Amino acid sequence: MRSYMVAGNWKQNLGPAEAAKLARQVSMGLLGLDLKGEVLVCPTYVAIPAVAEIIKGKKTLLGAQNCSATGAGAHTGEIGVDMLAEAGCTHVIVAHSERRADSGETDDDFVNKINQVHAAGLTAIFCFGELLDERKAGRERDVVKAQLEGVLPRLASATPQNLVLAYEPVWAIGTGETASPEQAQDIHAVSRELVSGMIGAEAAAAVRILYGGSVKPSNAEDLFGRADIDGGLIGGASLKAEDFLGIVKCAQAVS
Ligand code: 13P
Repeated sequence: MRSYMVAGNWKQNLGPAEAAKLARQVSMGLLGLDLKGEVLVCPTYVAIPAVAEIIKGKKTLLGAQNCSATGAGAHTGEIGVDMLAEAGCTHVIVAHSERRADSGETDDDFVNKINQVHAAGLTAIFCFGELLDERKAGRERDVVKAQLEGVLPRLASATPQNLVLAYEPVWAIGTGETASPEQAQDIHAVSRELVSGMIGAEAAAAVRILYGGSVKPSNAEDLFGRADIDGGLIGGASLKAEDFLGIVKCAQAVS
């Protein structure tokens, strides 16, 4: 019922030239595949036009890693969702743990950003997940609940089509340490249950929940094969076409 999404978050890597090269490799690699889900790449802002040019008319979708929380105006250094849409983006990542940590973004910011994304007709990928200390203290369910409750009930027009959730336990990001498929499935199931109370059972059953945190071709199939894991948000492994395409093939295999 839910189709998968495999999204590459390129973070602060690859300028326009290198991003275009990787985008070309990815879109070429997808050519022969009868895709059963969606494949998305999220370059840095300045590489978006170059990547958009490469993937035009191809199967790869384009997303941004962040956006402004407000409409156009006097907000130096910000980039609005209308601009991202004009540049070819269909998706925007919101609330990544690196933005929570580096930029001190809060639930209010996430609500405003996602509402902006939806008003522009784009899809938001909302990230959530606990820190290592929180997992060690056995508080992961409480943390996830608070993160979801702080944002989802306050969204103006979220639907399973314009909202994708991404569980990214912070201790698994860029560390090489992946949540086990059992650990990930446990939180995904809990999250879906929680979301059901916020947006309704039907919408919760239809919304995609991606897993992120050291996903590789060697562990992706086991993760994606779990009942409530609908694909992945990939960091490091999305920077190598071969690895990223390998992860897409894992999603294809279990779909
Ligand atoms: P890694 O795949 O490098 O662990 O990063 C995950 C992530 O943060 C994706 O948004």
